[in-house]
Amino acid sequence: MEQAEIGLIGLGVMGSNLSLNIAEKGNRIAVFNRSPEATRTFFAEAGDLQGQIIPCETLEQFVASIRPPRPIIIMIKAGEPVDQQMEALKPYLSAGDIMIDAGNANFRDTMRRFDNLKDSDLTFIGMGVSGGEEGARNGPSIMVGGTEESWKRVEKVLTSISAKFNDDPCVAWLGENGAGHFVKTIHNGIEYADMQMIAEIYGILRDGLGMSAPEIGGVFGKWNAGRLNSYLIEISETVLKATDPISHKPMVDMIVDRAGQKGTGKWSVIEAQNMGVAATAIEAAVAGRILSSQKSEREAAESIFGLPKTAAAPADRAAFLDDLENALLAAKIGAYAQGFAVMSAASDEYGWNLPMPTIAKIWRAGCIIRSAFLDEITSAFTKDPGVANLIVTPAFSQMVKDTDGALRRVVSYAVNSGLPVPALASALSYFDAYRRGRGTANLIQAQRDFFGAHGFDRVDGADKHHGPWGSGLADFT
Ligand code: 6PG
Repeated sequence: MEQAEIGLIGLGVMGSNLSLNIAEKGNRIAVFNRSPEATRTFFAEAGDLQGQIIPCETLEQFVASIRPPRPIIIMIKAGEPVDQQMEALKPYLSAGDIMIDAGNANFRDTMRRFDNLKDSDLTFIGMGVSGGEEGARNGPSIMVGGTEESWKRVEKVLTSISAKFNDDPCVAWLGENGAGHFVKTIHNGIEYADMQMIAEIYGILRDGLGMSAPEIGGVFGKWNAGRLNSYLIEISETVLKATDPISHKPMVDMIVDRAGQKGTGKWSVIEAQNMGVAATAIEAAVAGRILSSQKSEREAAESIFGLPKTAAAPADRAAFLDDLENALLAAKIGAYAQGFAVMSAASDEYGWNLPMPTIAKIWRAGCIIRSAFLDEITSAFTKDPGVANLIVTPAFSQMVKDTDGALRRVVSYAVNSGLPVPALASALSYFDAYRRGRGTANLIQAQRDFFGAHGFDRVDGADKHHGPWGSGLADFT
């Protein structure tokens, strides 16, 4: 029997959908699942695609069904199970075979797994896959990290299954070892910020302007036809307009306001901090989810403090709605600028040489943060790939100039009304701090020198690095 071009282990929803996508694009695929029952069910339901699929019930049969050097996608729960699966596979593999972790792995695990195989004749790819179930089935955005040679082996299959923006495939090799999973982690950090900011704007429309869920859905629908055009705005319109079949109320009003999280947002913040990059909007989004989960504490606090009086809605409602749209755009620029700055620092730290224009390019379709906006980011980075920060590129600095006034008015309104807008406010403060040549850290330096003799630089360049206080007096004698 003709061998498969690729193998996949783990027939959960993502693994099944990815396998069907691979088969549908004309690639022969061998599949294996820990429970053979799931493999049988998957195969039975594969319909017309059965001819492209080799269902396997043992690892030995599975590996033997794939054309060497064998690319094997592992699509199972991230963490320890991946290590166990790799160990179980190893005895059957031969020189050049490539194990590919397609889950949401911590890039540090990916680095370790890659390193552990360095002295063997096997190799490892850490592959970020975005787009959820639908994306896996019809075209995800794929971020690949590993050796260039191993990428060459999988490039054709991955290109065939990836999402396309116009005709450009949303898949790329981004660098060695952990590059792909690092970029996916930052994608998720940005995803958190984008979602949080949309939710904050929703809060202003609901609790400030008193609009109903379907009305807010209508506003988002209108915005989706403009500069905010994106998958997240589009699905927000859809969910806001949906009715609960049980209560017949808007579905969102029946959902408990407690957000879950699986850790990738948190990792992006941890890595930003490790790298010394300010990613304040992403941090605010992760903290927002944490606070949301403390529902009973929040309810108890509300019974103590009550809620502040909502400020009068601006008289010109249409103008305020325009402000909200522009505020969201301005804040979004801040979050994306921060995410790209983290990747740029990580690229230097780990020697990945991450291609920023390519990253923006492969996020234009397939992934959760796909948007028209990412096409503008692609153009900005293509013109100036080494720029320090997205917001100083000509196109984005103009956008910030056009919209930061709106963000300021919206944040002021929310603050005056006691409506929490941590991500929007963080993005605004980020701009305000980033564009101010003279900040206030001179006082922090003085304090540090006072209590710890840490020293400081002087604005006049004089060679005196301690203040006239405490032990620092010596510096002035
Ligand atoms: C994607 C998503 C996907 C998933 C994340 C987020 O790009 O397809 O990011 O990977 O939604 O796991 O999950 P949490 O919100 O649960 O952290």
